[in-house]
Amino acid sequence: MSEPFGASIEFRSVSKSFPGTAAPALTELNLRIEAGELMVLVGPSGCGKTTTLRLINRLIEPTSGAVLVDGAETTTHAVEVLRRDIGYVIQHVGLFPHRTIAQNIATVPKLLGWSASTIAERVDELAAEVGLDHDLLRRYPAELSGGQQQRVGVARALAARPRILLMDEPFSAVDPIVRSRLQDELARLHQRVGTTIVLVTHDIDEAVRLGDRVAVFATGRLAQVATPDALMAAPADAFVESFLGADRSLRRLALRTLGQLVDRTHTPDAASEVRLDAGLPGRSAVDALLASGADRVAVTESGRVVGHLTLAALTRLLATPDGHT
Ligand SMILES: Nc1ncnc2c1ncn2[C@@H]1O[C@H](COP(=O)(O)OP(=O)(O)O)[C@@H](O)[C@H]1O
Ligand SMILES: [Mg+2]
Repeated sequence: MSEPFGASIEFRSVSKSFPGTAAPALTELNLRIEAGELMVLVGPSGCGKTTTLRLINRLIEPTSGAVLVDGAETTTHAVEVLRRDIGYVIQHVGLFPHRTIAQNIATVPKLLGWSASTIAERVDELAAEVGLDHDLLRRYPAELSGGQQQRVGVARALAARPRILLMDEPFSAVDPIVRSRLQDELARLHQRVGTTIVLVTHDIDEAVRLGDRVAVFATGRLAQVATPDALMAAPADAFVESFLGADRSLRRLALRTLGQLVDRTHTPDAASEVRLDAGLPGRSAVDALLASGADRVAVTESGRVVGHLTLAALTRLLATPDGHT
């Protein structure tokens, strides 16, 4: 990761009740998000994810407890000052329909009084950063696909270099292929920019793919916070376990490459062996074994066999809590 540019976020015993509702939306939330971290909030519908996110930029205020950004309570400064440092992206981005893409992206810098040339430079830079074709900058939102509009939303949210980016189900409305591409791009962007990102999703696959850590919410409470690997290796309770689903072990394998799992002490020589590149996810070994009926795959680096992975070894890996043999 680049220099820790992002700000830390901390929830201290935060509860939130909405008027006229029986149960609190959030009860005694304690959670620290490190500077530069990509934290994913995941859980079933109505469990309090959006509420948690909106407490950060003060779209809503806690009933009790405190939210801190870089160690200072968010109520210390005027809300406009706080939000200047916090980008916000939602599922339907809400671009201004009668402004061009460039003008949409430039919204916040313009409010902040940046010069026209600085803004133009920044818009170009952002378009490249989020993978928007330069020709699109002169177009209007309705002329863009859903995925492109989502990219504009991210560019707009990042325009004034906020130290925090909040994303509420940002990819839920786009089709799976575009979604996968947007996820990859977000991961790369996060690596480059070092902004603290808090991303809400109901999709556990998206959560474990993107999160440095994942916070699993049950109704109104935080059930577990852990790295994706630790989460899948050791769910804290029955709720988390059921939310992760029966194939959580296989998901863990998706997080590692064959190069990380391969047994390099045995180099198979049979030419007929199933060969897989070391850069592929661990799960592809299971798929290949099931498809071929073989009991081992040969793992290659630059086309050269470096070791093998047996069905027995994979079974052992899946059974060990920390995923190491
Ligand atoms: N403005 C509101 N007024 C009343 N109840 C709300 C409001 N916003 C959210 N809630 C309730 O709070 C709970 C959590 O909502 P939310 O944080 O939006 O869940 P999620 O984003 O996890 O789906 C739900 O029961 C929801 O109905
Ligand atoms: Mg929500």
